[in-house]
Amino acid sequence: MDALVSLSKRRGFIFQSSEIYGGAGSCWDYGPLGVELKQNIKRVWWRDYVQRRPDMMGLDASILMHPTVWKASGHVDNFTDPMVDCLECRRRFRADKVDETPWVHYCPATKGNKFTISAGEPCSHCGVTRTLCPECGKGELTPPRQFNLMFKTFMGPVEEDASLTYLRPETAQGIFVNFDNVLQSMRRKLPFGIAQIGKAFRNEITPGNFIFRTREFEQMEIEFFVNPLETVDGRPADEYWHERWIEDSMAWFRRYGLSEENLRLREHAADELAHYAKRTADIEYHFPIGWSELMGIANRTDFDLKQHAKFSGKALTYFDEERKEHVVPYVIEPSAGVDRALLAFLADAYREEEVRGEKRVVLRLHPELAPLKVAVLPLLKKRDDIVRTAHAIRDELSKDWSVVYDDTAAIGRLYRRQDEVGTPYCVTVDVQTVGDQAKGEVGDGKVTIRDRDSMEQIRVPLDSLGSVFRELLGGSAWASVAGRFERKGDGTGA
Ligand code: GAP
Repeated sequence: MDALVSLSKRRGFIFQSSEIYGGAGSCWDYGPLGVELKQNIKRVWWRDYVQRRPDMMGLDASILMHPTVWKASGHVDNFTDPMVDCLECRRRFRADKVDETPWVHYCPATKGNKFTISAGEPCSHCGVTRTLCPECGKGELTPPRQFNLMFKTFMGPVEEDASLTYLRPETAQGIFVNFDNVLQSMRRKLPFGIAQIGKAFRNEITPGNFIFRTREFEQMEIEFFVNPLETVDGRPADEYWHERWIEDSMAWFRRYGLSEENLRLREHAADELAHYAKRTADIEYHFPIGWSELMGIANRTDFDLKQHAKFSGKALTYFDEERKEHVVPYVIEPSAGVDRALLAFLADAYREEEVRGEKRVVLRLHPELAPLKVAVLPLLKKRDDIVRTAHAIRDELSKDWSVVYDDTAAIGRLYRRQDEVGTPYCVTVDVQTVGDQAKGEVGDGKVTIRDRDSMEQIRVPLDSLGSVFRELLGGSAWASVAGRFERKGDGTGA
């Protein structure tokens, strides 16, 4: 995790929010490369789930909603964590997580010496287990109290209870309250889904681990509405679609680079299920902090639509033409965090390799996710014709992709810089490309393309660059494209 945090800051992916003021607790800002990576994750998700599927539509609901939404959804009463406070240092902990961090202990068996003991372990000198505050080691903890995780705010100029509302803690409710609007305006038949990407806010008691758990984050959520009266392949439609969405979601993360061995499915036990869920399965990822939730796929039944119908007095039903009756659809909800997905993609892509006795840090990001697709590098920055050609290539390619020009170091170092931020291809312009006019030479009009992962290089005519990158960045394997061109010596940059 330290390597990721440091790379993220050094190379412009993620900065601590308000850093010059000492930082804002567990809030993070995405820098120039981070915002590209994040946009790419959201773009491919939207393309795969909304644009390419005939049974899906998009929505962008507002963050501030009518306060009754949160009463109806159960968040006002149930969206709480049990919390304990230290009576000495006043720090606050989640009661169910308090034994998951190392704890400070002043051991009576060693004249009160201070020890820091591993999470959940007893003291090896006196044998006691933790009862006091794990941070200061001195204070008693209060009995657990429920703490609501929603951020409160006020709508309008008067700060009074009547104008109290909340920053949404999930994007899902914006979809439920618009169910009938979408149904009526788009004239869909069940099953269909509504997708949304947007910010959510939770006043987490113990946020942390970089962007894994923050107080402001983004979600990519789908509410997929199914007819509970139908069966598919002999199974109730909700159970069939739940299974389908679990498989689809797993496959999606694999497709964009998460390794098989770092992904697993975890079923929620009955006593862990959210108040609305019939079944929930989490996709867990082996983050640098251990196995943790990457996304959840819940069967929310008809809970939300029924609750909103009850609280709003509006019917939120679907007319089943075949059976001639109104039904309340069941909902399958695949819900992923954008920031958590970004952390997983970064962690999986990060490699430290040895190349000719030197360390190479490389982000093996999927080309569709990589913040920069191509870097154009002039081999000699003092040669005007080389620099001019390199700029012209950058200008041309950047009509379709995010492309940079860089001439601020020697070629080996430029390659390393691009490897470190995951740029899949570099283009170098050299003397051979443009020739040496002083000597009456004409160039061969070819440039070198270097592949990040294999470090292989090929010579490609300038007028083929666009079509070659369309292939490479459109999903064709390097080997199948490279095979058609002349190979060039090694691209280790050594
Ligand atoms: N609508 C369902 C829902 O919100 P959730 O499991 O609470 O379910 C879904 O959240 C996803 O949102 C999680 O799997 C995680 O990826 C992301 N998420 C939740 N809380 C988060 C936080 N504090 N920081 C970053 N991501 C978070």
